Amino acid sequence: MGFYDDRIVPHIVKIACGGKEVDPHRERVCAGLTGEVVEVGFGSGLNVPFYPAAVTRVAAVEPSDVGWRLGAENLARATVPIERSGLDGQSLPFEDDSFDSAISTFTLCTIPDGLGALKELRRVLKPGGMLHFVEHGRAPEEKVRSWQDRLNPIQKVVAGGCNLNRDIPQLVTDAGFRMADLDQFYAKGVPRFGGALSLGAATA
Ligand SMILES: C[S@@+](CC[C@H](N)C(=O)[O-])C[C@H]1O[C@@H](n2cnc3c(N)ncnc32)[C@H](O)[C@@H]1O
Repeated sequence: MGFYDDRIVPHIVKIACGGKEVDPHRERVCAGLTGEVVEVGFGSGLNVPFYPAAVTRVAAVEPSDVGWRLGAENLARATVPIERSGLDGQSLPFEDDSFDSAISTFTLCTIPDGLGALKELRRVLKPGGMLHFVEHGRAPEEKVRSWQDRLNPIQKVVAGGCNLNRDIPQLVTDAGFRMADLDQFYAKGVPRFGGALSLGAATA
């Protein structure tokens, strides 16, 4: 990883994903998380304030040391134990059937093998465990999609490998999850090519 991706992108992500306008999406996606939770792409812990009381422990998977350090304030305020437990969502260092819930927010766009990471999450979730996600990705309209395809190579360079055009719900079901709940909408105040959100929950 180069200097820009390693040192600069985590700061950009904290600002871009840490706005107050994102909080309602974080609150919605965290609702219903229970028990032992694995969070993939933990970043700077922007979901921590929204973990419900039913969460007992969080295993954070995050490759970026800078991102993890930027989360110090959120970690200090956490009311549940949170441990940095892995570095790569594509290869989770956990036994099968270990967790009650999993969460991914704005991360499946960036993990190089998004499908592989989802398969890993399904493997480590107990049968019936729930994956909660909010992700940007492939837009419903063809016109927006064509812009996403055109802009994707630039986005990948400037945004740490982030893809604009992944079909997140399709990847979730391709990984073997059963979709339990899905809301697709455009985030307010964000250009449509980057703001086509999928917020949902799926059963392992
Ligand atoms: C756009 S940020 C989102 C951070 C956080 N989830 C949030 O909602 O603010 C994408 C995150 O995915 C992480 N990431 C990149 N590659 C990863 C991988 N292979 N496994 C797990 N996380 C990864 C990045 O370091 C970064 O923290």
